[in-house]
Amino acid sequence: MSGIDTEFEHEQVEVFRDTATGATGVVAIHSTALGPAMGGLRLAAYSGLTAALTDALRLARAMTLKNSAAGLDLGGGKAVLLDDGGWADADARAARMHAVGAVIEQLGGRYVTAEDVGTTPEDMVGIAGATRHVAGQPVERGGRGDPSPWTARTVTGAISAGARQRLGADSLVGVRVGVLGVGHVGRHVVALLREQGAEVLLADLDTPRAQDVAERYGAHALPVAGFLTSEMDVLAPCALGEAIHEEHIAELRCKVIAGAANNPLAGPDTAHALAGAGVLYVPDFLANCGGIIHVGAEVLGFDDAEVERRIDVAVAHTAGVLAQAAATGAVPQDVAVAEARARIAAASA
Ligand SMILES: NC(=O)c1ccc[n+]([C@@H]2O[C@H](COP(=O)([O-])OP(=O)(O)OC[C@H]3O[C@@H](n4cnc5c(N)ncnc54)[C@H](O)[C@@H]3O)[C@@H](O)[C@H]2O)c1
Repeated sequence: MSGIDTEFEHEQVEVFRDTATGATGVVAIHSTALGPAMGGLRLAAYSGLTAALTDALRLARAMTLKNSAAGLDLGGGKAVLLDDGGWADADARAARMHAVGAVIEQLGGRYVTAEDVGTTPEDMVGIAGATRHVAGQPVERGGRGDPSPWTARTVTGAISAGARQRLGADSLVGVRVGVLGVGHVGRHVVALLREQGAEVLLADLDTPRAQDVAERYGAHALPVAGFLTSEMDVLAPCALGEAIHEEHIAELRCKVIAGAANNPLAGPDTAHALAGAGVLYVPDFLANCGGIIHVGAEVLGFDDAEVERRIDVAVAHTAGVLAQAAATGAVPQDVAVAEARARIAAASA
């Protein structure tokens, strides 16, 4: 795997190209120790196959931790598709999604997909034409639909837990939160934060979207450039991965980082560097697990009440990890990873 910028410890990786439609992508199964590997299907403009493969491997590994930490009997996996411009036409896209479904079907249920950045509940309908190993179809088709509002619930819970732990804030009233990225999840985070009385700054590369969300919820839209280092109590990265590099840390003015983005830290030591600078980093895979609880319910047979209960448990769990880390002087990321791995090891024993 030389040239691939990630640790390779995965059970199975499929790189595919459907010659009839041109659909090209990667399915990475990191672990099935706890159950079928589950994680969304991402469509992105990767610079090439190596970049797509690296992303799939990283995201699949993060799903193993996320599903374990959320107490789900699901392993970790992820699929990515290369956006070559051929997904724009609706009919071509549906045919490509059907081809992706055929690849997933060949995996025999070891991997279950759902929507992620760049894909939609409607795309899952195309996939379902070729496999039953798919969740998150539209509600009118019997699926649970877009998981984003549930992701926003655990993200907002993680922001509250972080603010309580680091700032001693009993509520979010008057806490200043900066939300970077106001797409599917970020806009719901903004709405929930405003409902709870937080002051919200936001930024998005899509400037009209940022303006619209700011006006709708009474938040302040700022330019993306310089946003990370704006004056704020909590930074909520809700765009794409790797937003925070070590060279940003000295300039950060926030005390807490908690958001929806998967893998928002650029390097393996960034969580420690943040802790050294007095910034509490709430592990992304704890903060953003609401979505997989919501769509994983289709695979695990949870009803709505069980989903609600598990969302509340996940938020309480995040607060518990932060408290345990504070009590022992550990970094929350290390506590959460060790706990998630221990659950997998126990299942594998
Ligand atoms: N959708 C879910 O339920 C879910 C669940 C878990 C994790 N996540 C993660 O949360 C993040 C957001 O997911 P989403 O579904 O809201 O995606 P999305 O594509 O709907 O929204 C992302 C937003 O970020 C903006 N953006 C992209 N790059 C940016 C940058 N460099 N600076 C500022 N803005 C930028 C985009 O314009 C867009 O508005 C992703 O990292 C995703 O993997 C999502």
